[in-house]
Amino acid sequence: MTNPVLDAIKNRRSTRQFTEEQVSPEQLDILLDAAIWAPSGSNSQSWRFTAIQKPDILLKLNELVREGFLYRYEPDDDYPSKKFAKNAAENEKYNFYYHAPTLIISSNVGGYANALADSALALENLFLAAESIGLGTCYINQLHWLENDEPIREYLAELGIPRDHVICASASVGNIKSPSPAPERKPDTISIIR
Ligand SMILES: Cc1cc2nc3c(=O)[nH]c(=O)nc-3n(C[C@H](O)[C@H](O)[C@H](O)COP(=O)(O)O)c2cc1C
Repeated sequence: MTNPVLDAIKNRRSTRQFTEEQVSPEQLDILLDAAIWAPSGSNSQSWRFTAIQKPDILLKLNELVREGFLYRYEPDDDYPSKKFAKNAAENEKYNFYYHAPTLIISSNVGGYANALADSALALENLFLAAESIGLGTCYINQLHWLENDEPIREYLAELGIPRDHVICASASVGNIKSPSPAPERKPDTISIIR
């Protein structure tokens, strides 16, 4: 059994190499529209999606993220990617959004228990919509880990993201330069009780 939705679900991969070509206004509208049609707890729809396409803003954000990891961030648990991100930031060529031409930041009101769940569902909608129109995406956690970093919050506030929002995640978006291979599915992750 296959159909366009199932194809998009299976063919979507996390893209980490993008071309320089910018996402068009029409494409960006499709992605953001898909995001806001996701389900949300109690139909809250209290999310905000901030799309950044200006290279100088993205580079400034990258500089702040790099400095945040280098000088202010300490992993608060053993999740390996946090330590990896801190180490990766030592490289002066570090770029947390893989030089994607568009970064979409997903935030939500502070104190809302479903913030991350709503964000994840909205971003998966966005990822699948991107796949369906030939664009690549990648979930990016760095801004979430650094959401309490003061210089970053200061800059995000300048970009219109309210200080009382939690930063749930972000998404790199662009045209695919090099496709990622599909990881194998791990066995024994499904139980069916009939
Ligand atoms: C909650 C979550 C956080 C993730 N964070 C990152 C990230 O910060 N950087 C990154 O390159 N990929 C990130 N990913 C992408 C995963 O590494 C990727 O989904 C996984 O390796 C499977 O590959 P696929 O998406 O191509 O199927 C994240 C995915 C999820 C669901």
